[in-house]
Amino acid sequence: MRTIIEPFKIKSVEPIHFTTAEERAVLLKEAHYNPFLLRSRDVIIDLLTDSGTGAMSSEQWAGVMRGDESYAGSDSFFRFEAAVRDLTHMPFIIPVHQGRAAEKILFTIKGGIGKYVVSNTLFDTTRANIEFSGALGVDLLTTASKDPSVPAPFKGNMDTERLREFIQEKGAENISLIIMTVTNNSGGGQPVSMANIREVKSICLEYKIPFFIDACRFAENCYFIQQREPEFKDKTVKEIAQELFSYADGCTMSAKKDAFANIGGFLAVHDQQLAEECRNLLIITEGFPTYGGLSGRDLEAIAIGLKEIVEEDYLKYRIRSIEYIGEKLDEFQVPYLKPTGGHALYLDAKAFLPHIPAHEFPGQALCAALYLEGGIRGVEIGSVMFGEHAQQELVRLAIPRRTYTQSHMDYLTEVIIAVFEKRSNVSGMKMVYQTPFLRHFTAKFELV
Ligand code: F0G
Repeated sequence: MRTIIEPFKIKSVEPIHFTTAEERAVLLKEAHYNPFLLRSRDVIIDLLTDSGTGAMSSEQWAGVMRGDESYAGSDSFFRFEAAVRDLTHMPFIIPVHQGRAAEKILFTIKGGIGKYVVSNTLFDTTRANIEFSGALGVDLLTTASKDPSVPAPFKGNMDTERLREFIQEKGAENISLIIMTVTNNSGGGQPVSMANIREVKSICLEYKIPFFIDACRFAENCYFIQQREPEFKDKTVKEIAQELFSYADGCTMSAKKDAFANIGGFLAVHDQQLAEECRNLLIITEGFPTYGGLSGRDLEAIAIGLKEIVEEDYLKYRIRSIEYIGEKLDEFQVPYLKPTGGHALYLDAKAFLPHIPAHEFPGQALCAALYLEGGIRGVEIGSVMFGEHAQQELVRLAIPRRTYTQSHMDYLTEVIIAVFEKRSNVSGMKMVYQTPFLRHFTAKFELV
């Protein structure tokens, strides 16, 4: 059969609350044109994030019941640790309440004034944690990856030539680590090839710089490697993941993405001394090393989720369901970042709304238009989120895992196309309030 169906049946449902266009106009104005300030009940299809918003499986819910809530040495921790070790083969595995907690601990130790952290593209919380420590974050994405209209198989790759130049210019001793984000969330959910990982790793070895992976979406990245890098076509996604992690000195992970959990994360490292320093910080911020800010039931959900995420029927459906949205948009020449990513489709707001300049935030304006038209909530990834670091003006429509069906996606494309047809009426935005860190969460806007 040609149709790729959702590889699950629905056991429990959550109703959607519908709003009218008139109601949404009032609600969005009250939320200062920032979708983060809307109440979720006022959203019809919520594509703000794929983080913590996925549906857990019946096995995960069974695991929740099994959770061992002992303060120290709980069985749930050992099942969690075994699941992480099976993939990463790292000896020191430190649970945390979510990805940014791992980043905070890592960069409190490895960051600091005068240091640099180099990446393909840092996610916003990662950059914020690096810069909060006094260090500087540097993105070295390949130039080819920056044109949203040109498809390529591995647009998450790092520019290794510029990496070498950067190391020589700043001195290897000033680069505290190199971290690859797989897939590259801020750059369109695009994968990094194994060839690129190997090249970066060999540069790291040459200059004795630790190599880390921001592993939030490792399984989606490894599925792309299987599909697009001929050497891996006969390997399982799990085997590919094991090879990917084998190159790393450590990784940070938000289990809210590729572990199907509603909360959780971890930091895993090879170096014992670093692990000890991390655990010392963990204990004053997150908790004892066998629970790290999580309940036993969360650790169980992550352990089971990490096994389910590498199932290939799931990944095939996952990647295909996002391609499907792209194909529908192609029929109307709606501009989006090509190819479609692992967890999201990114509308190219600059090309979608060419009459709105960057300082009037075309991405934010497009987010507002999608909400007004059909109650869709997406997120701006552009000048609002990154300020002067913004390389593109995108609107990310992140698809929660196992949550929406094909008819939800059909509705989504209908809304996008309706906005596209009247795009010249969409007006720009003026930012009237912002905070010093991660301003996109709380910024307030007015129409220009
Ligand atoms: N790294 C990447 C690549 C991420 O996408 C995220 C979170 C984090 C780190 C931080 O993890 O949220 O568990 O603290 N991304 C979410 C998103 C918030 O919507 O893309 P966290």
